[in-house]
Amino acid sequence: MTTFSSAICIVEASWRDLGELRNLEAVCFGEDAWPLFDLIGVLTLPRIVRLKAVNGDRKMVAFIAGDPNPDEKTGWITTIAVLPAYRKQSIGSRLLKMCEERMGLPFVRLCVRHDNKPALAMYARAGYRHVRVWRAYYHDGADALVLEKIREA
Ligand SMILES: CC(C)(COP(=O)(O)OP(=O)(O)OC[C@H]1O[C@@H](n2cnc3c(N)ncnc32)[C@H](O)[C@@H]1OP(=O)(O)O)[C@@H](O)C(=O)NCCC(=O)NCCS
Repeated sequence: MTTFSSAICIVEASWRDLGELRNLEAVCFGEDAWPLFDLIGVLTLPRIVRLKAVNGDRKMVAFIAGDPNPDEKTGWITTIAVLPAYRKQSIGSRLLKMCEERMGLPFVRLCVRHDNKPALAMYARAGYRHVRVWRAYYHDGADALVLEKIREA
């Protein structure tokens, strides 16, 4: 368990977090929120790194998942979200760093809406660089940018 400012702790998530994760996804992603099937998968599939940030009342305020693929030496950050009231406190950056460390692979990749400025700023600060575009990836036809970070050995 990692504790930092305002009694926020980062702990492993599990299938018991399904209800709170569903709410977090709906609040943070709206129409782009994952369907229930994907949320169950991310909370149960083996090898997935799943971490949540909880407040002093043990409520989930943020979540990240990573999917490590050792054969390709690459881990994918598949989702990250912080409830609006808890943003700009470095919770997202800390979750990202912990997930990268847990996956422990030389390359980390993720995709992000091309116009998601807060996320792009966070990823740039964390050392991610734009490597590819996935055209019309989102429900409204918006493009996704694929970003990559090369971690130090
Ligand atoms: C993107 C997202 C995860 C960032 O989470 P976050 O916890 O706010 O991220 P951080 O706090 O680490 O960094 C965000 C900003 O807060 C600032 N910040 C961090 N700690 C701060 C503090 N103590 N005081 C003031 N500002 C602070 C950072 O400098 C950064 O500023 P910038 O955006 O101007 O560069 C969050 O905005 C979110 O959930 N968005 C909706 C879901 C989403 O888009 N997910 C990404 C999909 S790819």
